[in-house]
Amino acid sequence: MRSHYCTDLSEKNIGEKVELCGWSNNDRDHGGIIFIDLRDKSGLVQLVCDPADSKHAHKIANCVRDEFVLRAKGTVRARGEKLENPKLKTGKIEIIVDELIVENISEPVPFVVGDNKVGEDIKLKYRFLDLRNTKSYEIFKLRSKVTMATRNFFDKQGFLEVETPILTKSTPEGARDYLVPSRIHNGDFFALPQSPQLFKQLLMCSGFDRYFQIAKCFRDEDLRADRQPEFTQIDVEMSFCDQEQILKTTEDLLIDIFKVAGHKIHAPFNRIRYKDAMEKYGSDKPDLRYDLSMVDVIDVFSNCENEIFSSIAKDKKRNRIKALKVPNGDNIFSKRQMKSFEDYVKKFGASGLGYFQMKEDGLKGPLTKFFSETDLKNIVKISKLETGDVVFFGAGEKNLVLDYMGRFRIYLAELMDIIPKDVFEFVWVVDFDMFEISNDNVKALHHPFTQPKDINTPIEDMESIAYDIVLNGTELGGGSIRIHKKEIQEKVFKLLKISKEEADIKFGFLLDALKFGAPPHGGIAIGLDRLIMLLTNSESIRDVITFPKTQRAQCLLTQAPNSVDDEQLKDLGIRLKEKIKI
Ligand code: AMO
Repeated sequence: MRSHYCTDLSEKNIGEKVELCGWSNNDRDHGGIIFIDLRDKSGLVQLVCDPADSKHAHKIANCVRDEFVLRAKGTVRARGEKLENPKLKTGKIEIIVDELIVENISEPVPFVVGDNKVGEDIKLKYRFLDLRNTKSYEIFKLRSKVTMATRNFFDKQGFLEVETPILTKSTPEGARDYLVPSRIHNGDFFALPQSPQLFKQLLMCSGFDRYFQIAKCFRDEDLRADRQPEFTQIDVEMSFCDQEQILKTTEDLLIDIFKVAGHKIHAPFNRIRYKDAMEKYGSDKPDLRYDLSMVDVIDVFSNCENEIFSSIAKDKKRNRIKALKVPNGDNIFSKRQMKSFEDYVKKFGASGLGYFQMKEDGLKGPLTKFFSETDLKNIVKISKLETGDVVFFGAGEKNLVLDYMGRFRIYLAELMDIIPKDVFEFVWVVDFDMFEISNDNVKALHHPFTQPKDINTPIEDMESIAYDIVLNGTELGGGSIRIHKKEIQEKVFKLLKISKEEADIKFGFLLDALKFGAPPHGGIAIGLDRLIMLLTNSESIRDVITFPKTQRAQCLLTQAPNSVDDEQLKDLGIRLKEKIKI
């Protein structure tokens, strides 16, 4: 029906007859002439309905309200210098309408499309209206380009795109499963896949050699700004490869993806060992766009005369005393702020937060009295302090200290506004610990199919061939070389205290596949939604998913999840006891 999209038009088209279709974004009556902003997926253009040009079009324009569906025929005209709108791509022109057709009317809309002040709940309830704003369209256009670039990239590299089942069995990614009751096997349930992990490994056992999939995954976990219960991964697996090949393939893919998004990025990306990331940044997903990091000062504190610190310093394996330097902090933070910092870390379990100020004549602060001159000098040396700097200390149990100091690092960076925008800082976190051990409870840090570097190392020191890719402090993806030998897999299950019976019930099919000539293999999965979120600078993952769920895991548009008929429940062999609110 149309000759152009709205923003195809520019001064180049002046004098041309055009035909446009779209929605009325806004209409104004100025002294008998009606102006309508016509919106389509590309953006806006101004229609002018002047009775002097067409009485009929003007009469129709008079009835137009927000979100009426319109078709307009007319001529492109320059707006005239003083009437130009620099905020609009088409702000230098307008369309003199000689025929206006209302293709459909609209009831009064619950909110003005594109209004940022509208509450998210109402936007999600009417998501189809919210999506009419051109900013959203641009996000999904980019998302489509990224998936297209991904397919092209893998196709060129000889990967096969394969779909894996959605109705399946629990996959061990650490979250709760979404379950689907079976009608034919009353009392039994399918699980929706938390990832295609086991199937992609099976495909390697089938000799497919190189697999990828743009895969839907489902995890019933507590939601955050970068988590959804239903999300998409770019999922990859390769046979006869090592870690280097997987990292290189991922970097090459990301270079192509960022290119279609208009950004040039450089590889190879930096790498940091998991242990170093935790010790320096208190996080396994460090944001390296800014230069704040921690050093260990436990040795110096072991001499100090404060009993709390010296006793913490006695157990160097279990505890940490970490120093976080803030360049020029003494000139930036007020006394009140320094006090509020302690309150901040206390929220995350800290018992306190010490600090020193670096003055012209050496270290000052409430703690200096506990230290000898030599130790104070050592603190200056280890923390590389200069006049005007402040250094903060966190002391206590290792994991606790690393966690709250890591959070404090991010908090300070945000407070000081030192995080550069428009920068993409990638880092590979490598050499992950194989296990997470707390109070005798042993869990796989990635998943139980990850290849240990050496299965004979004591479990607390065992590392795995696992890697995460981190972008600007967000975990974008993760993967590993997998175990391809049955004996090693069984040993890992044993260390995880998964009995043979339990392993057989849960993953018997994988253990079977490992029996019959499984090749060495490994892979990675990149969170597509998070990638698009970072590429489009979106605040929430919900902005980059067409029909997302709320923080309470509901779809406000369809009202899912919802109750079902007794008849349906009967078919499934399910009787509800009572509704439990969580
Ligand atoms: P992992 O669990 O690390 O690895 O997931 C890979 C990536 O998927 C994204 N992601 C999510 N995105 C949105 N909402 C969620 N709830 C969510 N959970 C995860 C993240 C994450 O880095 N099977 C392994 C991969 C492998 O080993 O090949 C896996 O799923 O960006």
